Amino acid sequence: MTNIKIAIIGGSGLSNLRGLTDVRREVGRTPYGDPSAPLTIGRLGDNEVIFLPRHGLSHQIPPHQVNYRANIWVLKSMGVEQIYAVGATGGIDPALKPRDIVIPTQLIDYTYGREQTYYDGSNLLVEHIDFSHPYSEKLRQRMIEAAASAGIDVFAEGVYAATQGPRLETAAEIDRIDRDGGTIVGMTGMPEAALARELEMQYALVSLVVNPAAGRAGEAIISMSEILEHLEAGMLDVCRVFEAMLRTAK
Ligand code: HPA
Repeated sequence: MTNIKIAIIGGSGLSNLRGLTDVRREVGRTPYGDPSAPLTIGRLGDNEVIFLPRHGLSHQIPPHQVNYRANIWVLKSMGVEQIYAVGATGGIDPALKPRDIVIPTQLIDYTYGREQTYYDGSNLLVEHIDFSHPYSEKLRQRMIEAAASAGIDVFAEGVYAATQGPRLETAAEIDRIDRDGGTIVGMTGMPEAALARELEMQYALVSLVVNPAAGRAGEAIISMSEILEHLEAGMLDVCRVFEAMLRTAK
């Protein structure tokens, strides 16, 4: 058994991970309060994997109320070094359609009012982490290679725009994000990525497109039932990529 500890943070549509053996549950506590759910710990191939559903066990926590600090802290306290996060997104780049998987290279943060740092002054430390390249290139490449080995096409780059939610965006907001360079839009990618960097953990995002972003499908409005259908089908592919990656992860 290798001793690299890997965590997967599940988003909408991914509340458990298939194929885990020796599964146990652990309730974690942190100085920042309770994580979204107990941790599910198991084994896949040679690797120990810790799974944490970001929105809670019954998907009850909205994006702006996720305790991102507790979630990342509890993973660090378990010895996790590598985090693969999953997030549903709207597609802004016209090349993207529902069920496409994007492994982004960059992000832009439009969220506000979230507890977004461990260096908030309370611990008398001021630290400015380098965040030029928010995602771990090593983990990105692992996912890209795993997808190829599983025969699943992915978009190997993209710019993730994190919006506040829980409402979806206006068409003009999406036009603005597009002008800024955003290619996909979701509500949970920040501050999660920055908190992982603050605690010196490698982090990559696997994003599943579940709808054309606002205004990107003509006059059509965004339908929840379509989103759910794409989530369900698309997450099967995301799981297949994870299974391929975990069997060979180093
Ligand atoms: N916008 C923001 N978050 C999302 C979307 C979207 O269109 N689809 C899924 N998560």
